[in-house]
Amino acid sequence: MGGNLLYENNSYLPPRHGKDVARVRSQQEYEELYNFALADNDTFWERRARSLLHWSRPWEKVNNSDFSVPRVEWFRGARLNAAYNCVDRHIITDHRNKAALIWQGEREMEVRAYTYQMLYNDVCRVAAALDGLGIRKGDRVALYLPMIPELVIAMLACARLGAVHTNIFTGYAEGGVKNRINDSGARIVITADVVMRGGKPKPLKANLDRILGQCPSVQKVIVVNRSDDSVQMMRGRDVWWQDFLEDFTLDADFPCVPMDANDPLFLLHTSGSTGRPTGVLHSTGGYLTYAAHTTQWVFDLKDSDVYWCTADCGWITGHTYLVYGPLALGATTIMFEGTPTWPRPDRYWRIVEKFRVNILYTAPTVVRGMMRDGEEWTRRYDLSSLRILGSVGEPMNPEAWVWYHTHIGKGELPIVDTWWQTETGGVMISPLPYATSLRPGSVTRPLPGIDADIVDRNGQPKPVNEGGNLVVRNSWPGQFIGVFQNEEKFKSYFDRFPGMYFSGDGARRDEDGNYWILGRMDDNINVSGHRLSTSEIESVLAAHPAVAEPAVVPVPHELKGEAIYVFVALKNGIDWTEALRSELRDFVRKNIGALASPEVIQFVDDLPKTLSGKTVRRILRKIAAGDDLESLGDTTTLARPEILGEIYLARNRLALGQPEKQAD
Ligand code: WT7
Repeated sequence: MGGNLLYENNSYLPPRHGKDVARVRSQQEYEELYNFALADNDTFWERRARSLLHWSRPWEKVNNSDFSVPRVEWFRGARLNAAYNCVDRHIITDHRNKAALIWQGEREMEVRAYTYQMLYNDVCRVAAALDGLGIRKGDRVALYLPMIPELVIAMLACARLGAVHTNIFTGYAEGGVKNRINDSGARIVITADVVMRGGKPKPLKANLDRILGQCPSVQKVIVVNRSDDSVQMMRGRDVWWQDFLEDFTLDADFPCVPMDANDPLFLLHTSGSTGRPTGVLHSTGGYLTYAAHTTQWVFDLKDSDVYWCTADCGWITGHTYLVYGPLALGATTIMFEGTPTWPRPDRYWRIVEKFRVNILYTAPTVVRGMMRDGEEWTRRYDLSSLRILGSVGEPMNPEAWVWYHTHIGKGELPIVDTWWQTETGGVMISPLPYATSLRPGSVTRPLPGIDADIVDRNGQPKPVNEGGNLVVRNSWPGQFIGVFQNEEKFKSYFDRFPGMYFSGDGARRDEDGNYWILGRMDDNINVSGHRLSTSEIESVLAAHPAVAEPAVVPVPHELKGEAIYVFVALKNGIDWTEALRSELRDFVRKNIGALASPEVIQFVDDLPKTLSGKTVRRILRKIAAGDDLESLGDTTTLARPEILGEIYLARNRLALGQPEKQAD
């Protein structure tokens, strides 16, 4: 309808059609907003906060943050409730009967839709029932749930009460779940009998049963019945969701608890730079402002749009862009239980056609998977409802960008490649679809109000096109307000470069001011857009009785972006067997989850170390990637450089499917 995007000066220009009614209409308007937000930051955010949300008490101060403490504090003194903003206020307008949430189950025939009124009814019921269990403001509630509407309802019910939800991705196995529950001190866990994966139910409640003995804070477990699977219910502790709600039928106009803008809305764990997951805390007022603001501008969201973010609510993307952002704006948000490829690789396109999706937000790994499966799958469907495409989680390589633009966007649609993190709460660097010229592979420019920069190791700005550390010089409302019960960890984000927030990412900026993300500078690995910490995986492996010492490094992977490569030195006298290899792989899967499953496990006699005994991961990375021996860089600081040759040869044997050591 709009014609192909014009291509000039290595960039795709924004679409002309739709520009006049866009939220931000041109490059010039972006520049004006950017400069205004820089010059008068408080006024910029105050206007956004006032126009986007309902506050029951105004603020005394807009931004009271100070990175030198560090303290992140927005809208001090103000009150609001996130559930009120996402649900209640829409049922007193003509949005009352609008679809708030459309759920597509894994099976095509399973669809459930909630109007705002229906969502209100259920959120009130669940809030009343949680209140009946004694859940109060500030209590933590763990949500270990599949992508089903009960998850969204439970999140909003917690928000209504001021309880802090802590979502745990269903892909985490026992160890990952246990660490998160124990770190949060949750009193209640809400789960389901199973999670559907590829047409089959996989046990979820049973995973919990194996660890709850080691989770002393948990008093009650509420179980949603997803698939009539048999589960063991422990008397007095476990209760079915249906029974839990029974006493709270329709009378429940359960009131919202007024929250301070800086009371936490939720806790979400991410991988930090140590073995222990980082409990990222987000505020109620600042976070919700930022979620609504970025959803509206980055996706140019309009009232008539059908909006689909494909992320799981176990991740920050699902929090901000499936639940809080779109619902705060009174939009229609789609929730999909399944995967792109089951039962066939056309699943997303069926959904786009079926619900006439206008905005699609997904991840590079999904696009690369679709590229591999071939564009035939896209051609059978009418994708003409789509207006804007989005991407998040990891760098989008130009080939995937062009494929997405060509086969899904039919050459006409802009792609917003959005850079952000669990800690930032929402998108930070990204195109605005009708204002920004696009360069495949670049996340383009910081949003208005975001004072990003790239600095060297001394905190000095880097020249054009040189890689450095990606930092932000000023707070923004979506910034995390702390790390749960770990002040030191919170400080660590601000002490690397005084006066700045350090993202942990490397980036460079080109001559036109576009940012290019180069990946993590710390020990995080990005597997299919999921952040994993190498030290978390190493500490799991080190606990295995056969392991003397592990080293975990990322390797480039065609679909996943990066994959996990493990080098292990075994204890004396333990044989290098295939059985042990699969045992170690299972051990990691069981303790963290399938997403941490090592791609390759290579046995070594010794790890390369410096004279002072530090493992040199820089060299192991290169060996894992299959780089030439000559390109390993300086090896003179190693205690025993001679071991590299053997590790290198063994790597190549493994890559050919042979064992590390050739039979004598
Ligand atoms: C890390 C944050 C933000 C929600 C999903 C991941 C990488 C994220 C991009 C992008 C290149 C990206 C960064 C970042 N990342 N988006 N568009 N281009 N890299 O959240 O688990 O907190 O991970 O993901 O390395 O630091 P997360």
